[in-house]
Amino acid sequence: SKGEYRHFMLKEIYEQPAVISAALEGRLSDTGVLVESFGPEAATLFARTRQIHIIACGTSYHAGLVARYWLERYAGVPVQVEVASEYRYRHPVVPEDTLFVTLSQSGETADTLAALRYAKTLGYIGALGICNVPGSSLVRESDLTLMTRAGPEIGVASTKAFTTQLIALMLFTLALAKSRSDAPLDAGEQGEIVQALKALAPICQQVLALNDEIEVLSQAFAEKHHALFLGRGAHFPIALEGALKLKEISYIHAEAYPAGELKHGPLALVDSEMPVISVAPNDDLLEKLKSNLQEVRARGGQLFVFADKNVGIHAHDDTQVLHLPHIHEALAPLLYTLPLQLLSYHVAVLKGTDVDQPRNLAKSVTVE
Ligand code: M6R
Repeated sequence: SKGEYRHFMLKEIYEQPAVISAALEGRLSDTGVLVESFGPEAATLFARTRQIHIIACGTSYHAGLVARYWLERYAGVPVQVEVASEYRYRHPVVPEDTLFVTLSQSGETADTLAALRYAKTLGYIGALGICNVPGSSLVRESDLTLMTRAGPEIGVASTKAFTTQLIALMLFTLALAKSRSDAPLDAGEQGEIVQALKALAPICQQVLALNDEIEVLSQAFAEKHHALFLGRGAHFPIALEGALKLKEISYIHAEAYPAGELKHGPLALVDSEMPVISVAPNDDLLEKLKSNLQEVRARGGQLFVFADKNVGIHAHDDTQVLHLPHIHEALAPLLYTLPLQLLSYHVAVLKGTDVDQPRNLAKSVTVE
């Protein structure tokens, strides 16, 4: 039941600290990930892995896009990510020693399952399925599995399923890094990420406590017809996910761009009627992002920035800023997802849409 919450979506957003802890439970030592969490054959398969192909749909695809940044940066493995409905109809070339990975909340998405079945004919070394539903088709048909442990997700708009997929994908990244002698991440850095993972749930709680402030921000969106989301690096997929949430439940047209692409086209759309939402964690790309935000301001765009409290981005006339607690750079995509979920939730409530059951959509897309 929804309990004290007005919608399942809100309840599921608030469950995230708890399910993130559940997704980590028993899978970490003090210094690294327990590779056997992925099954008895995982260590051998991961040591052999030279490339990774990740296939998924919708929100799960966005989790895959985040994982590409992590897997290349920390495990040093080249990664391709693609939506299942495209992958299954082309003729993918599979290099030797490539691992196939599917991501799915339900484990019953028709295109993702078809892609998995097709992949089995293409000579991959194995298929890893990251999934939330035990006993689903995807779990039964994969060689290795990792359950995301988000518990039942009722709202059509995926929230806790996404953040627990990110946890699973960070565990996968650490497991690969540990299984390979040439990984860019040394043991010390692995330990730092493990400690940051263990400290993550209470930090998420602090971000959820910004709910009232985000509800106030949401008022600026209710009358708008369009919105632009910007991010860089691993936060570009977070911007994509923020835009998908807003589209799905508030029916406002939203697009996401890597901030560096602004001047290659979308800047033409920016005027005082266009809200621009940006995530600004404290990472290498911050200075570049700041200059992208300046470009928006110069065009009269209304900026909404979710920023690390230490980075010196402050509110003024045309810029509203919400400060987030500082977090290890590797985990920032997880944390910055939360305010975007709450923002789209409150905009949808203001617009009076059917938040848990948006028009034209089904929770599990079991037909093509
Ligand atoms: O169950 P799956 O993760 O395979 O579902 C994939 C998409 O249908 C799903 O993520 C969809 O995009 C959600 N409604 C997004 O909120």
